[in-house]
Amino acid sequence: VLFIFAGLVHTRKASSPPGVMAASRRRTSAEFQGDGSLMPPSAHVVASPRGGGAPSREEHANGGRPALRGANPRGGSSVFSATKLTGRRRPAGRMPLRRVAIFASLALNVAALALLRHRYVVSHPHHPGVVSLDQQHHVCAPQPGTSGAAASAPSTGKPGVTSDSVINLDHGDPTMFEAFWRETGDAAELVIPGWQTMSYFSDVSNVCWFMEPDFDQQVRRLHRTVGNAAVDGCHVLVGTGSTQLLMAALYALSPAGAVQPTSVVSTAPFYSWYPAVTDFLRSGLFRWAGDANSFVGDAYIELVCSPNNPDGAIRDALLGSGGAGKAVHDLAYYWPQYTPITRRADHDIMLFTMSKSTGHAGTRIGWALVKDREVARRMTKFVELNTVSVSKDSQLRAARVLRAVSDGYDGGASRHQLFDFGRRKMAERWRMLREAAAASGIFSLPEVTSGRCNFANETAANNHAFAWLRCDREDVEDCAGFLRGHKMLTRSGNQFGADPRYVRVSMLGRDDAYDIFIRRLASLK
Ligand SMILES: Cc1ncc(COP(=O)(O)O)c(C=O)c1O
Repeated sequence: VLFIFAGLVHTRKASSPPGVMAASRRRTSAEFQGDGSLMPPSAHVVASPRGGGAPSREEHANGGRPALRGANPRGGSSVFSATKLTGRRRPAGRMPLRRVAIFASLALNVAALALLRHRYVVSHPHHPGVVSLDQQHHVCAPQPGTSGAAASAPSTGKPGVTSDSVINLDHGDPTMFEAFWRETGDAAELVIPGWQTMSYFSDVSNVCWFMEPDFDQQVRRLHRTVGNAAVDGCHVLVGTGSTQLLMAALYALSPAGAVQPTSVVSTAPFYSWYPAVTDFLRSGLFRWAGDANSFVGDAYIELVCSPNNPDGAIRDALLGSGGAGKAVHDLAYYWPQYTPITRRADHDIMLFTMSKSTGHAGTRIGWALVKDREVARRMTKFVELNTVSVSKDSQLRAARVLRAVSDGYDGGASRHQLFDFGRRKMAERWRMLREAAAASGIFSLPEVTSGRCNFANETAANNHAFAWLRCDREDVEDCAGFLRGHKMLTRSGNQFGADPRYVRVSMLGRDDAYDIFIRRLASLK
C-alpha cells in the first residue's frame, strides 16, 4: 500500500504541476486501460527514441518488439493511448518523462504487490484466499457415506460417524488431539522447500547419523520440561514410530552367536503387538515367550510397558536387568495427560512415540533413549538395514511439534498447553465412562488411582489412554463379540494374553464417536 501511495505521489509530482493532477490522473488510467490490459513497459518502449513510451497496437501484437514502420500511418508510435481516446493532444516535450515515470512507478507497484502477496501467503497460510491443509479438511473431507474420491486433501483417518454408525474404538488412533492442534495456528506448521531434506544423512558425527539435530534437541528439551525421563548421558535415536525401535532393541539385545533365540516376555495383560511384532519374521535371534510371570530361564528380554497398554497399570520390570536378562521400557504413555509424573524414569532403553505424546501418529516418529553406546549403534544398524534411515521431513515436523509443546510451558507467550488440554479431556472422558458403566450396571472398570504429579505440581489421577473394561454379565464370555453386536468395535482381552471377558477400549478418538459410544454403553443391560 505504501508503494502504491508513494508511486501515485511520485507520478503526480513528476508529471503534473499543481492543479492539473485530476486531469493527469484520468489520462493515466486511460493510457493503461485503452487496450484492456495493464502492461508494464518493456525496456525497448521506455527507451523508445520515438518519444512515445507505450507500445503501439502492433508492438503489443508483436510481442513488444518494434512494429513495422508502415503499420502506423502517422509515424508516431504512442498516439494510440490517451490522445486517441480523449481527443486531446499532450504538450510536446513533457510527455516522455512523465510517461516513463508513470510506467516505472506502476511497474514497481505491480512487482511490489506480487512480492508482498507471495510473502504473505507463505507466512500466513490461513489467508482467506489460500486454502491450508487444515481448511482443505473442512472443505474437502469426505462426508460420511461418500467415497471421498473428489478430494485431494490429506486423509483424516476414520470416517465421520452418525448415531447409528459402527463405532470403532479398537485402535488407539489419537485423533482426540486434533482439537488442540487446530487451535495452535502456525506454531506447529512447517514449510519444507523442494531442495531441502534430500540427502540420506543428517549428522554424521552422531551414532544415529540420520537423526536431525533439531529433533534430538527438542526431544531432550521436552523431557527436561516434563521431567519424565533422564536424558543426560543418553543417546537419542529416532525411528519410524517406536514400533521400529522396539524391533531394533530386540535385535540389539539378542546375542548374535546364541544357540537358541532369546526369549521375549512381558507381564500379562501385555500390549497385543508385542507378540505379533516379535514373531512376524520368525527371527532366529529372538522369539515370543509369553507372560513374564510364567517365564523360567536366564536369557530373556523383558518388555515393560508403563503405564501399561491395555490396563494403565504402573509397572516395574518383573525379572529385572542383569546377566543375560535385559529390559526394554516402553514409556509411550508416560506423559502428564495420562498419568501423574511421579519420578524421572532412568532405564537402559526407554521408548517414546509422537503417536501418544502429541497425537501425531501419522507422522510415524518415535524415539529411544539409550544409555549404552554399543546398544545404540546396533539399534541404529537395525534401522539402517530395515528402512535405511527415517524420513527427515517427518523428523523436522516432529521437532516443530515438540518445540510447540515445550514453548507452551517455558513461561513464554504461548497459550497452548498440550498436557493441560489432554488432562482435561481425559478426565472428562473417564468421568463419562464411569457414569455410563454405572448406569448400565453390567460393566466394571479398574479402580481410580492417583499420585503426586511433579509436572503439574498437584495430585493427579491416572486417566489412561485405554479403558480395560470387563463385562460382568454371566452369559457374556466374549465381551468384544457382545459389544460388536451393538456396533461397538473394541479389542478382546485374549489378544493381550488375558480373559476375553475384558476388552480394551480406546479413549483417544474424536468426540462425536466417543459420545455415541458412551450413550450406547449406558443403554446396555
Ligand atoms: C505401548 C505402545 N508402544 C508402542 C506403540 C507404537 O507406537 P508407534 O505409533 O510410535 O509405532 C504403541 C501404539 O499404540 C503402544 O501402545
